[in-house]
Amino acid sequence: MHNLLKGKRGIIFGALNEESIAWKVAVKAVEEGATITLSNTAMALRMGSVNELGEKLGAKVIAADATSVEDLQKVFAESVEALGGPIDFVLHSIGMSPNVRKHRTYDDLDYNMLGKTLDISAISFHKMLQVAKKMDAIAEYGSVVALTYVASQRTFFGYNDMADAKSMLESIARSFGYIYGREKNVRVNTISQSPTPTTAGKGIKDIENMMDFADKMSPLGNASAEECANYCVMLFSDYTRKVTMQNLFHDGGFSSMGMSLRAMNQYAKDLAPYEDENGKVIYG
Ligand SMILES: NC(=O)c1ccc[n+]([C@@H]2O[C@H](COP(=O)([O-])OP(=O)(O)OC[C@H]3O[C@@H](n4cnc5c(N)ncnc54)[C@H](O)[C@@H]3O)[C@@H](O)[C@H]2O)c1
Repeated sequence: MHNLLKGKRGIIFGALNEESIAWKVAVKAVEEGATITLSNTAMALRMGSVNELGEKLGAKVIAADATSVEDLQKVFAESVEALGGPIDFVLHSIGMSPNVRKHRTYDDLDYNMLGKTLDISAISFHKMLQVAKKMDAIAEYGSVVALTYVASQRTFFGYNDMADAKSMLESIARSFGYIYGREKNVRVNTISQSPTPTTAGKGIKDIENMMDFADKMSPLGNASAEECANYCVMLFSDYTRKVTMQNLFHDGGFSSMGMSLRAMNQYAKDLAPYEDENGKVIYG
């Protein structure tokens, strides 16, 4: 360990179980010398194993729905008190689409559910930043990071309304990053992570195929949750004090690729056109 976060105080939102990216970030942050609090919904605290993680890391666990401004005020107030001062870093590792859960396709969205997708997966990030700024709960040169996916910028079959949520999330990082940087030197960035086998990841249609494709397309292969945690720690550290308003790809090179040798080899195994159940050829 390098003590990259020695003496720093952080809040980690979104650890559900050992597979969660936020779980790995929490473990690494503490290993690197930080003290932290953990937050997730009351239901996630019941269903998951966050309380065990809290005990292991000596971290207070605070129940909060990230769409509730009052709950977020509570998280920041209790974290400042428990950790003994202003917060140096925050991880937003939250995503959920009721449309994906209910198998509603993108051309048959339920608009109430779309509202929930955007509120949980994107607007919660704005709420978090606005609450923290109004409470002056984040220290000078603090670092706020949210996790995103490349489907925000390019179309991926099956990612559905989460693509819209991720576009908004990345936009919020830029818009709020400008104001928070100008007034308080607080950094706001998003990390665009490879497909990863977590509870949220497994909710995406045909995630195994998507992961295999991304892996074959990426010169460095898919980035794991643990590697993502390392990148988060670096962004929380003082080594990235002038990095803000960025969407940073952590994807083994996937986002810059068009076609790779490995993907071409796989593709060459079957050149037959895709047909639906009625034998109709589908393009695209
Ligand atoms: N897994 C992937 O392939 C992948 C790829 C790129 C980005 N991401 C992003 O990483 C982040 C973390 O996801 P993960 O893959 O670790 O899965 P995960 O299922 O472990 O984490 C998602 C978390 O969101 C929390 N959450 C849902 N609704 C909430 C609410 N209303 N308030 C507070 N928390 C709420 C869940 O309880 C859960 O802890 C998400 O933003 C996800 O979109 C994941």
